[in-house]
Amino acid sequence: MAYRVIGASPARADAWEKVRGRPIYAGDLALSGMLHGRIVRSPYASARIVRLDTRAARALPGVVAVLTAKDVPRNELRMELPGRMAEATAGAVLATQPVLADDRVRFQGEPVAAIAADTPEIAAQAADLVEVEYEELPGVYDPLAALAPDAPVVHEGGNVLRRWHLRSGDVAEGFARADVVVEQTYRTPFVDHVYLETETGIGWVDAEGVLTLRVSTQVLEHFRDVAEVLQLPHARVRLEGAYVGGGFGGKEDVTVECLLGLLVWKTRRPVQLVFSREESFIGHGKRHPYVMRYRSGATRDGTLTALEAELVSDSGAYAALSPWVLLYSLVTATGPYRIPHVRVEATTVYTNNPVASAYRCFGSIQTCLAYEGQMDALAAALGIDPLALREKNFLRKGDALATGQVLETEPLLAETMRRAWAGLGERRARRGPTRLGRAVAASFTPYGRMCWTRDSASAWVGMELDGTAVVRCAAPDVGGGQTASLCAITAEVLGLDVERVTAVGRDSHFTPRAGTTTATRQLLMSGNAVLNAAREVRRHLSAAAATLLEAAPGDIVLADGRAFVRGAPDRAFPLASVVKTAIAEGRPVQALEKYDAPAAPTIDPLTGQGKAFNDYTFGAHAIEVEIDEETGRTRVGRLVACYDAGRVINRASAQGQLEGGAVQGLGYALMEEIALENGVSKNPHLADYKIPTSLDVPTIETVLLESGDGLGPFGAKGLGEPAMTPSIAAVANAVSAAVGARVTELPITAERVFAALRATA
Ligand code: MOS
Repeated sequence: MAYRVIGASPARADAWEKVRGRPIYAGDLALSGMLHGRIVRSPYASARIVRLDTRAARALPGVVAVLTAKDVPRNELRMELPGRMAEATAGAVLATQPVLADDRVRFQGEPVAAIAADTPEIAAQAADLVEVEYEELPGVYDPLAALAPDAPVVHEGGNVLRRWHLRSGDVAEGFARADVVVEQTYRTPFVDHVYLETETGIGWVDAEGVLTLRVSTQVLEHFRDVAEVLQLPHARVRLEGAYVGGGFGGKEDVTVECLLGLLVWKTRRPVQLVFSREESFIGHGKRHPYVMRYRSGATRDGTLTALEAELVSDSGAYAALSPWVLLYSLVTATGPYRIPHVRVEATTVYTNNPVASAYRCFGSIQTCLAYEGQMDALAAALGIDPLALREKNFLRKGDALATGQVLETEPLLAETMRRAWAGLGERRARRGPTRLGRAVAASFTPYGRMCWTRDSASAWVGMELDGTAVVRCAAPDVGGGQTASLCAITAEVLGLDVERVTAVGRDSHFTPRAGTTTATRQLLMSGNAVLNAAREVRRHLSAAAATLLEAAPGDIVLADGRAFVRGAPDRAFPLASVVKTAIAEGRPVQALEKYDAPAAPTIDPLTGQGKAFNDYTFGAHAIEVEIDEETGRTRVGRLVACYDAGRVINRASAQGQLEGGAVQGLGYALMEEIALENGVSKNPHLADYKIPTSLDVPTIETVLLESGDGLGPFGAKGLGEPAMTPSIAAVANAVSAAVGARVTELPITAERVFAALRATA
């Protein structure tokens, strides 16, 4: 089947305004009489608030409100999880964060007071005038230390937030059958999303008393959290999705919403709240640091026999999304390989470090560093080519994951790995005091939610009288081109040019609820909902066109903005006429449809057995690095990313995901780390926390395979998070190959590489 729009790269409707730097973000907007918000945050990671005096701040001219914990009707950022979601947290110590700290702070940056003033300068001055007396308390800053029996407790109930277990086969038997056993411990640091736009929002109360917030967010459903905090009926809080200048999971948790809502509601004035870069660094959820002890066994011919893994993640001071992030680690712990005997223990632990939560790949990237490191280590121990070892053990259609889930479609793992590797081309000769290293990493990443959440999305598609189409769907566009894809799907089904399809609004109250732009779920969920709605509209239009053309509805073709009988395009009616005929005949020219993802029961909490996710995206990175022997500095010379996209919806968007994911991974692999000293960040600014710039980006080649086997529209899979998964493992493996020793800890700084070179010299 040939597509007209699907797989092409039509320009996104928002592209020009963004490229020109026009004021479109929530932080760019202004309302008359608007106040400016400012948050007072704890400088300590663990302390008691002994005294909090806001009188001097309130007395400052131009200050309208200085709010503290006692001003918050329900002072708890409890995520409103549907009951079926809560099921998975049975046995967890789920400590929720207050909106404003009351008598205790548990991490540096915890909000203590919220200010609204006439100008940002006055708000900043008022923040300095808020007097807070702290008494420092013992804290715990390492997840392994937090597990010790005498460790200071972060919350009543203990420091263990959640454990997950995976059991399949008998690991003792698996290791008994192994000829080679490789054991290593991998470590990853706290890292930040570093979106170019920090957390921003603007809010007001409308004439009918509805608190309206336009926020840079991945989750419009947070209107419920604001309503709960303010103890308002849910329908009295409306969230509008502003353009998002990067989210990557960092705008998945509540950021400005409740603080902004509180300031607007209490002052009854429009308020804008924009977090500074430093606030963003210390204020929102980070990627979890992991310690991962892996023990892997294989026979002499390279057949994997057993895996035993122990994963410990640092959740920081509150629960946020840690239990679910850890579940992703559990399910992906084996990598995309057949391993008959598996035992994984996964634990997430409270500390007084920054809160850790969602970040692109959501727990499935740390495990990739470990499982792909193990594959190269096993290959070296066995004297087998690392690609051949992988190929021998890759999952194929019909194989089961360690959770027992059987793969119903072919994952194309060998193809993605071989295509990525081939993309590196001929080996170059080394030049001067440099070492070259090449490696691959293969990966698998879920797209879509856990099956037992019974995920659902809704969308509305309708026709205007001029024959153009409208899409209404509350799917936040986080810059990945989500909206453009929904328009492309509609255009494809209705036979319209994509310029004749407009998506209007991303709004919790005025567009059908589509759920969060997280978990690589929107193409699957909203994409299918829009597909269903567009097909329903096509059915109505075909019926009307059948009247005009005196034909059977099944013979009607909609293409190029016209309707005609299959095989007879010369006699055609413009869609505008078809729409008018449909209306005259009393037919609807609009449809509200939903898509329900396939559901399955919760996995077994003791063994991890069951179907955790409906499907996975498989892909590989191949990388060549160049290491300066005199400084230890690593440069990535070439990077090839190959994925099975299922079906490419918007080619430029898909390539953009693969390139962006790879570059974000290079930062994580080589340079990024939040430097903490007793929970206090030493580098909460871009001067000392480095991310890749365009000068650090190597030549990146992207290869997109299209099996057509995905669960999304036209057989598409999700790419957003999977695009990043293999990155850090590929870099670590390539550096290991160049140095001749295993690199197991991120970031792979020049100092670490230099030390490894010295050790192997
Ligand atoms: Mo996410 S890390 O599910 O936005």
